[in-house]
Amino acid sequence: MKLSFASSILLLLGYHIVTGTQPSNFDLKGNVSSWTKSETRLSCARSFLGAASAGEYALFVGGIEANGDRSDIADIFNVNNYRVMQSKISEARSEMGSGSFMNGRYAVFAGGKINDTVLSKRMDIYDSKSNSWIVMVMSSARASPQLIDLGGTLVIYGGAILEPPFISRTIDYLDSNLRLTTTQDRVSGYPFVGISAGNTALSSGVVLGGYTNSNLGGDMILYGPSNQTLFFKKSGNTVELEALDPVPSPRLGIQGAFSFDSLVYAGGHTIANDGYTLIPTNKISMFNSRRNFHTDLQITLSEPRTYIYSGAFQRFVLFWGGGKSKILEVFDSTNLGLVSNVPQAFNLSISRDVAGATVAKECIMFVGGGQVWSTGKPTDSVEIIRGC
Ligand SMILES: *[C@@H]1O[C@H](CO)[C@@H](O)[C@H](O)[C@H]1NC(C)=O
Ligand SMILES: *[C@@H]1O[C@H](CO)[C@@H](O)[C@H](O)[C@H]1NC(C)=O
Ligand SMILES: *[C@@H]1O[C@H](CO)[C@@H](O)[C@H](O)[C@H]1NC(C)=O
Ligand SMILES: *[C@@H]1O[C@H](CO)[C@@H](O)[C@H](O)[C@H]1NC(C)=O
Repeated sequence: MKLSFASSILLLLGYHIVTGTQPSNFDLKGNVSSWTKSETRLSCARSFLGAASAGEYALFVGGIEANGDRSDIADIFNVNNYRVMQSKISEARSEMGSGSFMNGRYAVFAGGKINDTVLSKRMDIYDSKSNSWIVMVMSSARASPQLIDLGGTLVIYGGAILEPPFISRTIDYLDSNLRLTTTQDRVSGYPFVGISAGNTALSSGVVLGGYTNSNLGGDMILYGPSNQTLFFKKSGNTVELEALDPVPSPRLGIQGAFSFDSLVYAGGHTIANDGYTLIPTNKISMFNSRRNFHTDLQITLSEPRTYIYSGAFQRFVLFWGGGKSKILEVFDSTNLGLVSNVPQAFNLSISRDVAGATVAKECIMFVGGGQVWSTGKPTDSVEIIRGC
């Protein structure tokens, strides 16, 4: 049940999950068919880009341009009128970890790839209060670390690295005064890159699933779906790590978002009995972070898909596109069902991989850039679903 892959392939599997909750004075519409869809454009087509929201802005940062160059462009969209303001990050790169912090004041972009052989330790932090950038340096370079907002503490967990064991155990903590401290994950059996989410109300966070390298000490990756669940709990100024029960149906390429107390995630690949064929699935699962249990739900997505763009509008979790899919499906965490009347007009216009996705104000979701499924070329298209 294990696959061998080169590390460069591993780095292609950058997981991005929409984390962090922001206060919203926007009224979410309970009737999904009255939501609206719009489109706008990045200033330049690119894939493997970072995306996060801060204050009144949705930011799309860095990535790989059509000519293969890493980009330092930051496109900053006003979430009210979708007007774009152009800016730059401190170092051109792709595959950053991205997320928001301090009740949505900051958008944080951490690490990434400078080129195929050099990773970044840079952090570019956009402060939506002063409309300015803060540049910091992490303790070690890595691509696609997971950013988990515990409320007043941002966890920058792991990520992919270029040397054995190819997945980092480093954790940097960013505090509310933007001071960094660093430690190592000594709790997980194997280093892994999972999906993650923070619960600022409970001062906790979770990383689960994703992929792992079980060939510790070897110079090859023995990589497969991870069943690990790592829980972060903040008490006072310290953060405790705990390994919880394993994920019941581990799969590669799951995505999801946090709604109330649960991380709802769907899709991904299972591995066939031959040990290597990847099979897309339509499974939907849930992790309850108040009582720490996993559930595989009875309902399924209408079609199998992987790396779905996901985000939460309060009680709703949106599953939009993913691979060649275009469809929007909406999970309602109050009745654990899928909303039945989602208009087909909300389909993505362009199916794409490795785009950036972010939710602003708990009611506006953006999917921008990425590689067009049918051509493999980067796109400048940004598609937006607005529920308020
Ligand atoms: C939901 O909104 C749609 C479109 O705005 C409308 O046609 C429909 O009647 C509404 N449904 C309910 C139950 O209010
Ligand atoms: C990658 O970036 C590093 C640091 O900027 C540089 O020294 C190196 O030559 C680059 N490698 C390639 C293959 O472009
Ligand atoms: C979790 O995965 C490990 C190896 O990655 C395996 O040894 C273990 O049996 C799995 N646990 C469960 C409950 O599936
Ligand atoms: C929406 O997407 C689904 C699946 O991706 C497809 O079956 C359906 O035909 C699409 N509908 C429209 C109107 O594009």
